[in-house]
Amino acid sequence: TAAKDSLYRFPLIKVRGIPLMCHIADNWDSIWAFCPDPSDILIATYPKAGTTWVQEIVDLLLHNGDAEVARRAPTLERNPFLEMYSPPPIPSGLSLLKRMEPPRVIKTHLAFQLVPEGFWEKKCKAIYVARNAKDNLVSYYHFDQMNQTQPEPGPWEGYIHKFMNGELSWGSWYDHVKEYWKEREKRNILYLFYEDMKEDPRREVERIMRYLDLSLNDDVISRIVELTSFNTMKDNPMANYSCIPKVVFDQSISPFMRKGVVGDWTNYFSPEQNELFDEDYKQQMEDVNIPFRTNI
Ligand code: A3P
Repeated sequence: TAAKDSLYRFPLIKVRGIPLMCHIADNWDSIWAFCPDPSDILIATYPKAGTTWVQEIVDLLLHNGDAEVARRAPTLERNPFLEMYSPPPIPSGLSLLKRMEPPRVIKTHLAFQLVPEGFWEKKCKAIYVARNAKDNLVSYYHFDQMNQTQPEPGPWEGYIHKFMNGELSWGSWYDHVKEYWKEREKRNILYLFYEDMKEDPRREVERIMRYLDLSLNDDVISRIVELTSFNTMKDNPMANYSCIPKVVFDQSISPFMRKGVVGDWTNYFSPEQNELFDEDYKQQMEDVNIPFRTNI
């Protein structure tokens, strides 16, 4: 269709019940068939949970805090985005992976059950980042306005319902955070929270370091914390997605590095919306007890 051929506002197509950008759905078989190396590291998130932040931390940890090395290329070239398929010239995740030698740090937004099984068979390290639903939703709302490859977000009121109904790209936030949570012990997944990272970034950087079996000295850790602060990353052209042309990411609408805080949701939810959201949340999350915080 015309919509599919254009670079803009791709429709979503469900893959095993989960709505994905049509180009991902069209290439699903090759994505599902991807087989990682045991040394590869997976970074998995629901969109807008803090993916780029953790990617930068992991890259610096793997390179002993060397800022120059971390600036060798934009985030999307340093860490292939496993399922991403956009029309040329944007390279697909799989084509980047083919060109890179393991160990690779691979980004995905796929729901747990859509992650190629090789990651678990090969016992790859996997880091999951979760962010409280309300801030995650607000961040996604702004992102969908500026990212011209995503469906139109429409008005705020309706967007909340799309989020609650799991109709956004990559599906239900609720199922996403729950599935990885349930699998985290069996699969040895490091499950992190955005709010913990804001509260005490050094503690979380050290947690990631230990998970990766690394041991860096205190000065290097301090440097990594500084290099991965919101303000530093916002000004870093290799981390702030300014490499993506305006026709795809229109950062004049909303910058990729937007606010980077916990609790921005209070500026968007009306008291009625908040009540409705909380009621629905209780039901959708009743089978788990994941310690999310909506303020710190
Ligand atoms: P906001 O829109 O709330 O500002 P992702 O990388 O998964 O797409 O997530 C993007 C969100 O993480 C954005 O949230 C962005 O500002 C925030 N973010 C990126 N780097 C950050 C950092 N170093 N510290 C805090 N938040 C960061």
